[in-house]
Amino acid sequence: MSPSSAPRQGDLPNHIGIIMDGNGRWAVRRGLPRSSGHIRGTSNVKEVIRTADKMGVKFLTLYCFSTENWNRPPEEIEILMELLKDYLIGEKQELLDNNIRLQALGQISRLPLEVLKILNATIEETSKNTGMILSFCISYGARDEIVQAAKTLAVKHAQGKLDLKNFSEELFARHLFTHSMPEPDLIIRTSGEYRLSNFLLWQSAYSEIYVTETLWPDFQPQDLVLACESFAQRRRRFGRSDEHETTTNLDEKKSDGISPGCLDISTSDLLNH
Ligand code: FPP
Repeated sequence: MSPSSAPRQGDLPNHIGIIMDGNGRWAVRRGLPRSSGHIRGTSNVKEVIRTADKMGVKFLTLYCFSTENWNRPPEEIEILMELLKDYLIGEKQELLDNNIRLQALGQISRLPLEVLKILNATIEETSKNTGMILSFCISYGARDEIVQAAKTLAVKHAQGKLDLKNFSEELFARHLFTHSMPEPDLIIRTSGEYRLSNFLLWQSAYSEIYVTETLWPDFQPQDLVLACESFAQRRRRFGRSDEHETTTNLDEKKSDGISPGCLDISTSDLLNH
């Protein structure tokens, strides 16, 4: 891929969400245990974080472990927890060196105590960083997130602290895990499945969706660039008619109060790191 085919300045998604799917199939196709797919998938997590940061993405949200994943066999849950712990221990310095702030979205109180402590410590230690916001969705389910927000608002109403007249989409969104973040511009799903699987259901109302057949353990930095190139060519209308659409997404990003990201290094630089 030539540098000239990189996305134009301003067309870079401000917020990318990734549904990292296909670890199991990657392993099974090679006659390996599923854990091998998760191990290889974790290496890719590191690569993709590095690439997104270099590209200038402001928010990267990774679907690491869903509420439904608690139903997997205990040995598989254990390996995923172990990988998360190893990632946090091994990559903390890299996050700090690159000014990346980590946060977790989901019911993290369900995590094993040892993992929870390391996760909270990493969140705390990176909390002053001002660069890319990296969100791990862990023990996350969008329906659960919406129900929790609804419950909080119902309690506020019952306590007389919330007038129904003031109930709005904006108020509701402020009670989601993602309250301090813009909505994802681009959601990438690997492994060729065309579904959201309970990922950011509220927030993805106007997200562009990019599905690749590539299994997550095979997902390379250039695949992220390809997804961004596809995004750069989309015409986002946000429910408006063609005459009022924005061909780039700059106006929308400005209205979020967040400056648009831009690809300020060439694709070849990214891929040769
Ligand atoms: C889906 O593949 C992937 C997961 C359930 C876990 C995703 C986790 C990682 C990529 C690694 C852990 C993350 C960190 C941050 C250390 P699948 O097992 O459902 O694949 P299949 O659909 O082919 O069976």
